[in-house]
Amino acid sequence: MARILVTGGAGFIGANFVRYTIDNLPQHEITVLDALTYAGNRANLEGVEDRIRFVEGSIVDEAVLEPLVRECDVVVHFAAESHNDNSLEDPFPFIETNLIGTFRILQAVRKFDKRLHHISTDEVYGDLALDDPGKFTEATPYNPSSPYSASKAGSDMLVRAWARSFGIHMTISNCSNNYGPYQHVEKFIPRQITNVLAGATPKLYGEGLNVRDWIHVDDHNSAVHAIVENGRSGETYLIGADGELNNRQVIEMILEMLGKNAGDYERVRDRAGHDLRYAIDYSKLRDELGWKPRFTGFADGLRQTIDWYAAHEGWWRPQKEATEAKYRKSGQ
Ligand code: NAD
Ligand code: TYD
Repeated sequence: MARILVTGGAGFIGANFVRYTIDNLPQHEITVLDALTYAGNRANLEGVEDRIRFVEGSIVDEAVLEPLVRECDVVVHFAAESHNDNSLEDPFPFIETNLIGTFRILQAVRKFDKRLHHISTDEVYGDLALDDPGKFTEATPYNPSSPYSASKAGSDMLVRAWARSFGIHMTISNCSNNYGPYQHVEKFIPRQITNVLAGATPKLYGEGLNVRDWIHVDDHNSAVHAIVENGRSGETYLIGADGELNNRQVIEMILEMLGKNAGDYERVRDRAGHDLRYAIDYSKLRDELGWKPRFTGFADGLRQTIDWYAAHEGWWRPQKEATEAKYRKSGQ
């Protein structure tokens, strides 16, 4: 049994982590610390609230953070500003939460000698060419493109420095693009699903040839548990599931699964600095920890995700109009 402090546990991946843990590893005690930004939602924890302790507050706030870190065995740190497009409009919250917030967590785990698992992204490595036969590995040099990925790269570097200089016990995971239930409608897959469900046209950035390496959120979270339980302190593990597809292919699949014509989408302004391709080599995680993904067919996971959004209009409707208003302003 471990007492786990989950930062960002009311967000997409964090809330799924809480649910996954309760369903599969019910011996653990969970405390969630979440600032409930526009991306955090108590409804993401509906049905499991009585199994956890929920604290509303920011990781930047030492007075809230420190007692929670003192009382736990391990911090699993999901809290972040997470959307590239927002980071292009206003980078400051990314600097504050992803860098200063992670700094506060590091100081607290150092002070109370606790273990940290830091959740990060493959976007720290920049992008690959479309025709590059290679994939990202743990040895790929960092080369982030956006304020979001630069702030995550910086947070990873802080974690490594605190391990080397102060001897904190930590692991880091860098995962590829997640999909699944409870993902905010600003992100690519839920935006297109809810566009179709709301009678609007899906929006593809530029040519749509950019490749993302999709992984179901439950596979991300089972990998995080494998690392927290058996990962070697000081190590970084890449998490992926061989899910490379370009955006055009994904948008066409969504349209077809919802009974529309595959071509019923609109091309909109491309993202500035848009990364071309991400691809993960997860052989270290597989060979060292024996982990493997459960959702190996993207189409099945996508269908399940579409069904979830279709059945939970009350969950996504309140976010939809404000999100689309933001995109209209940026011509996307
Ligand atoms: P999300 O935006 O859905 O959720 C982020 C959560 O953090 C929200 O609940 C928000 O309220 C909370 N939060 C933000 N600032 C906070 C602060 N200062 N203090 C406390 N809580 C705060 O993001 P997500 O998609 O669930 O991503 C979670 C983590 O996984 C992030 O660290 C992200 O970089 C990483 N990641 C995401 C993906 C992906 O595809 N979404 C892939 C790899 C890694
Ligand atoms: P996103 O979900 O924002 O994740 P990330 O930027 O972390 O990869 O976007 C995934 C891909 O989809 C990315 O190449 C940008 C593209 N995209 C669109 O084509 N249309 C959209 O409406 C959005 C939000 C993203």
